Amino acid sequence: MDLKLKIWRQKNANDKGKMVDYPISNVSPDMSFLEMLDVLNNELIEKGESPVSFDHDCREGICGSCSLYINGEAHGPDRLITSCQLHMRTFKDGETIVIEPWRAKAFPVIKDLVVDRSAFDRIQHAGGFISVNTSGNTIDANTIPIEKADADDAFMAATCIGCGACVASCKNSSAMLFVGAKVSQFALLPQGQVEATDRVLNMVKQMDEEGFGNCTNTGACEVECPKGISLENIARMNREYLSASFKG
Ligand code: SF4
Ligand code: FES
Repeated sequence: MDLKLKIWRQKNANDKGKMVDYPISNVSPDMSFLEMLDVLNNELIEKGESPVSFDHDCREGICGSCSLYINGEAHGPDRLITSCQLHMRTFKDGETIVIEPWRAKAFPVIKDLVVDRSAFDRIQHAGGFISVNTSGNTIDANTIPIEKADADDAFMAATCIGCGACVASCKNSSAMLFVGAKVSQFALLPQGQVEATDRVLNMVKQMDEEGFGNCTNTGACEVECPKGISLENIARMNREYLSASFKG
């Protein structure tokens, strides 16, 4: 396959940045999207040019690093996959592919396609944890009965990989799908009840301080989420927040 790539190049956080055209030839349809970028970078290095910076780690849909906006969609045109799981057979020979970083005030660009997603870490630090007795008399979690539906919903919420595609897809740059998943993961389980009130209040407060926008029920986040996190998690977070506000 021969392709025309249009890639966002930005030297650093203060650089204005611009789209740069890169033709690329002999791309195998079996390559992953990131492997295609590796080939491009090898060519750029051989020509003495600066390679394109992009985030990646696991390359198997687990770590949430590969934050690429491809042809106007977070993680590209396919559904329920991350950019690293996208394969070049999805595209046509001769196609132009536009590759940009996540665009959100709370995710500033560090270089090229790499953005700073530490805002998510700070939201997690604000409440995304539980206290566990590690005295030696710890009760095995599996001895506490949990309704199957609650266990399934908690597990589903816990599959959020913190990639930020929900923010990048949202016209308001809202992080509510991410925060909703992180709140739900604990709110549905008995182990999460000890800090439940503080958790939702503190995580939402941190989310607002980081500059993420509000949810206006557009649903783009749910469509683009590679893990299929449901809007139901936002509704649950709102219920938790209302209840915690009265208690708090
Ligand atoms: S909710 Fe989905 S899109 Fe948002 S951070 Fe989690 S996995 Fe990524
Ligand atoms: S590189 Fe880890 S999810 Fe894509």
